[in-house]
Amino acid sequence: MKVAIVYGNNRKGSTYHCVEVVKNSLLEYGEVSFQEIFLPKDLSELCLGCFNCIIRGETLCPHSKQVSPIITSLIEADGIIMASPVYGLDVSGAMKTLIDHLCFMWIPHRPHPEMFSKVGFVISTAAGTGTSRTNKTMKKALDYMGVKKTYQFGVSVAASSWEDINKDKKRKIEKKLIKKARKFYHTTQNRNNLRSRLFTKLMFTMIKRMIKNYEDTNVDKQYWSNHGWLEKTKPY
Ligand SMILES: Cc1cc2nc3c(=O)[nH]c(=O)nc-3n(C[C@H](O)[C@H](O)[C@H](O)COP(=O)(O)O)c2cc1C
Repeated sequence: MKVAIVYGNNRKGSTYHCVEVVKNSLLEYGEVSFQEIFLPKDLSELCLGCFNCIIRGETLCPHSKQVSPIITSLIEADGIIMASPVYGLDVSGAMKTLIDHLCFMWIPHRPHPEMFSKVGFVISTAAGTGTSRTNKTMKKALDYMGVKKTYQFGVSVAASSWEDINKDKKRKIEKKLIKKARKFYHTTQNRNNLRSRLFTKLMFTMIKRMIKNYEDTNVDKQYWSNHGWLEKTKPY
């Protein structure tokens, strides 16, 4: 099983260690390989809002050299973990920057067919508050790319580093993470049996109607047409 992990910071702190617990649990179940992406190390540029990716094609993104290998890792993976510390009550700026760079592959534009069979897992840590919103931001990004199911884990660690977390709290965090990791593993292994989400079906149907009315030269329309999605074919 292949798992792509996107870290919203380069720091090996609480968020990183939560993911380590998940990684170690997954390895107990079977052969799992990890493709790790650290932000902002692996994507250092902010989205410029040039619209090139959306209107002309993603290869024309000025940061395509950095974005393209990340997309390949996501597409090749069976499961995707997105992990971010809470900064200002939401994801880190680095994680948001990646999400911005991936908007062209949301259902309203050009979702990758492979994304519709993947399972996600979003993880966030905060000193006090903000994990619900942070997880929601990452989960929504996965939902809009077509991901079938996403697990969530958020925790207030009351600390600025993993080492400073109270021992009892750390034990509880590890226990909960191990439980979620087991679910993530089994769901990912059996993801072909998962039913498609109503959200995906409704969004796809709505966007299909919209795209049908676009000019034939529109990049999104050509993409949907090439996949047969403007007829009966569906990616899920
Ligand atoms: C710039 C910055 C902003 C932060 N904003 C919040 C916040 O809004 N809410 C909160 O509870 N903790 C906040 N924190 C604390 C971190 O979310 C928390 O310590 C987290 O566990 C750090 O993760 P890390 O150890 O993986 O770096 C912030 C920390 C930084 C550096």
